[in-house]
Amino acid sequence: MDLTTYLRALPKAELHLHIEGTLEPELMFALAERNQVALPWHSVEETRAAYAFADLQSFLDLYYAGAAALIHAQDFFDLAMAYFARAHADGVVHAELFFDPQTHTARGVAFASVLDGLERACSEARERYGISSRLILCFLRHLSEEDGFATLEQALPHLARIHGVGLDSSEQGHPPSKFARLFARCRELGLHCVAHAGEEGPPAYIVEALDVLKVERIDHGVRAAEDPALLARLAREQVPLTVCPLSNVKLRVFPTLQQHNLKALLDAGLKVTINSDDPAYFGGYVLENYRQTAEALQLSRAELQRLARNSLEAAFVGDAERALWLARLEALAD
Ligand code: HPA
Ligand code: ZN
Repeated sequence: MDLTTYLRALPKAELHLHIEGTLEPELMFALAERNQVALPWHSVEETRAAYAFADLQSFLDLYYAGAAALIHAQDFFDLAMAYFARAHADGVVHAELFFDPQTHTARGVAFASVLDGLERACSEARERYGISSRLILCFLRHLSEEDGFATLEQALPHLARIHGVGLDSSEQGHPPSKFARLFARCRELGLHCVAHAGEEGPPAYIVEALDVLKVERIDHGVRAAEDPALLARLAREQVPLTVCPLSNVKLRVFPTLQQHNLKALLDAGLKVTINSDDPAYFGGYVLENYRQTAEALQLSRAELQRLARNSLEAAFVGDAERALWLARLEALAD
């Protein structure tokens, strides 16, 4: 079996995916026209040409600008359905979608519009593709904890449809401890907790995310490699890391994919997974992340299977569903 066929056949979960980051320029322009919204670019080509990033912030500036095209529940539905079609084609059996309500409510979009559109897409994806999914509300860390509490308040009537919370946006200068009280409240509400940490921020932010926010997974986490004691802890506690290789190269966390530390993290015994982050901006969906990483780092089939197994083991799903996917994974021959 060739590499791409093998990778597609591997049952896998995508656990680090910002749904706003799946907005391809073609859909962005179609929605902007439908909604009579002005974009900072004049064409699809000009938009794609602008996707050359120096760091996380330079990406976030464009990502928030593009999200302005999203207004109605139908827009969020169309966005998520386009993602699910791609994910299904890549052999994703389960996807956990991050969404950033503050990006939308700040523009006057109702929280319910965002959630209704995404929710409907999740049900439709289950029916059409058999994909299971979860919604994870992300708080923007460049905003205040108070703003986060106001967002949680808006989410309360919808908690049956929200499985967890995360923390994203500009990392430097916004440590996890800024959101200690908010995450404590989310834990009391029974929500799963994850946080971006150690993408651009220091290893100490990963420690804070674990000890102060008590998260169950770390999003990115690649800078853990700078702290041997933390590395040993992550291996011992088998904390899943949702690594996004193409994102890391585009945002210059690593100069090239060949220099990415994913294999080193795997070799150190960490529970690493591969994900696409914001695929419309970073040049590849999850299969492309697996494929390019496999080639750049010379990963074996056993290592690729381990990465997919890690993603299934780290998913926020019941054990019965997980067991079915794991059985399919183990049955897959090389
Ligand atoms: N890091 C932080 N915030 C984000 C990202 C990311 O990779 N993608 C979308 N928001
Ligand atoms: Zn991310």
